Amino acid sequence: MNFHQALAALQSHAAALEPLRARDFFARDPVRFREFSVEIDDLLFDFSKHKITAETVRLLIELARARNLEARRAALFAGEPVNNTEGRAAMHMALRDLSRRPIQMGGVDMRPEIEREREKVLSFAQSLRSGAVKTFGGERFTDVVNIGIGGSDLGPAMACRALSPYRSEGPRAHFVANVDGADLADTLSSLDLSRTLFIVSSKTFTTQETMANARSARARVVAALGEAAVAQHFAAVSTRLDKVAEFGIAQDRVFGFWDWVGGRYSLWSSIGLALAISVGPENFIAFLQGGFDVDEHFREAPLEKNIPALMGLLGVLHRNVLGRAAHAVIPYDQRLARFPAYLQQLDMESNGKSVRRDGSKVETETGPVIFGEPGTNGQHAFFQLLHQGTSVVPIDFLIAAEPVESDERHHELLFANCLAQSEALMRGRTLDEAKALLTGEDRAPEEIERLGPHKVFPGDRPSSTILYRRLDPRTLGRLVALYEHKVFVQSVIWDINPFDQWGVELGKELANRLAPIVADPSRATADLDASTAGLIGWRRATAG
Ligand code: F6P
Repeated sequence: MNFHQALAALQSHAAALEPLRARDFFARDPVRFREFSVEIDDLLFDFSKHKITAETVRLLIELARARNLEARRAALFAGEPVNNTEGRAAMHMALRDLSRRPIQMGGVDMRPEIEREREKVLSFAQSLRSGAVKTFGGERFTDVVNIGIGGSDLGPAMACRALSPYRSEGPRAHFVANVDGADLADTLSSLDLSRTLFIVSSKTFTTQETMANARSARARVVAALGEAAVAQHFAAVSTRLDKVAEFGIAQDRVFGFWDWVGGRYSLWSSIGLALAISVGPENFIAFLQGGFDVDEHFREAPLEKNIPALMGLLGVLHRNVLGRAAHAVIPYDQRLARFPAYLQQLDMESNGKSVRRDGSKVETETGPVIFGEPGTNGQHAFFQLLHQGTSVVPIDFLIAAEPVESDERHHELLFANCLAQSEALMRGRTLDEAKALLTGEDRAPEEIERLGPHKVFPGDRPSSTILYRRLDPRTLGRLVALYEHKVFVQSVIWDINPFDQWGVELGKELANRLAPIVADPSRATADLDASTAGLIGWRRATAG
């Protein structure tokens, strides 16, 4: 069966399910939860609240086979140049491969080099935590500021927050990303520069925002402590060691990685330095272990029991068969507050594409809009639309079975809320049920008629739940890797390259062209379009 036939089979199958209600599936099938859930150790993926049957899963797997998912997965893990527009492998999995197997890339075993660099990161992190690495004034570092953006910010920022209870005695981690000077100024306003280490994190070491923030931070350190302090108060993470040297950062404070690690997949590399400092080497290794466990699962589990494959394929069902343009990720876990933002880059920068790997136009819609906020907060903000709006938004709920360090009673309420939402979304409420409810409240008949439609919930709103024992380093590693592979699976179905990001280039080029015009009021704007010229003119006339 080719891709189009497989998609057509899915479409007619979905049309046949259309008149049915998800709640009836549960009523008819007492073992539905068991049939549509998969566990890896103490992590469970429940996808029973999608309106699907065993036949849906079978057809989704046929679709995956029509795109050779298994062969493409093997090529990914074999270090083939799957990033075909940049001629590179995408081997972030090698960074968390804790087996003893050789890691072949271009005929070379990369394991020794990877382990050497990791050792360097972990030993620096440990020395900083223990106080062996000292400030210019010979004291302990109390704070670390990571300067980076995109993949050089979102991963470590998300992870440091997620694992904050594991920090113990380590320095506090802060993150500056935005070229808006307010970001640096506000972050530094509460820090003592004489006890702060800056980590300049940039794969390319050319990113405008990061370089601007790094130069400003350097100037502040020089002003406060003198030029000689720079060597002690700066470290860098990059693949471009030549450029780091130009910036003047001491060699033993420079940590490298490789061009086969994409920015949004780089948390596992030296880019994780702020995380390693924050939680310590042991917890960092546990984080890698979680990612590695998922790699083994993704490589070996049959597709119908393969969590990333199922996550990806369910997304394809919603996007390509049922026309759903958005996807929400709602962690009922406050410490995962930055996880949706992290996933926005991972998913939208990877799969926000309109051409296939060979440059021809895609045949279907590609990546959905990803958004999310922690529950329960989201319930009091945008959940109204999720329950009763005209757009159906599939959701991933994430929640722990037990809290890491918070009140058990709070966690019970949190857990109940999470389950209540997914149940309400799936079950809905019919007009008859709404009216019966109003009748029970002793409402007048005309009021029951008037209010009834407002209290109807359509139901059949699909969600998956990822339930894990607790948000520890290994679990975080598992969550990140699950989503990485989910994104890969979808890219295979859409036949796009998820590892490049040409779409961010044009804006960068234009910003570089406009920056000197914005900076110099005597520069002509006549070559610019009328809107851009008008906005610059208005700023020139208005700004103080
Ligand atoms: O926004 C584009 C991008 O290239 C991302 O892919 C990347 O994570 C980010 O910029 C930062 O890049 P760098 O680490 O090279 O500074």
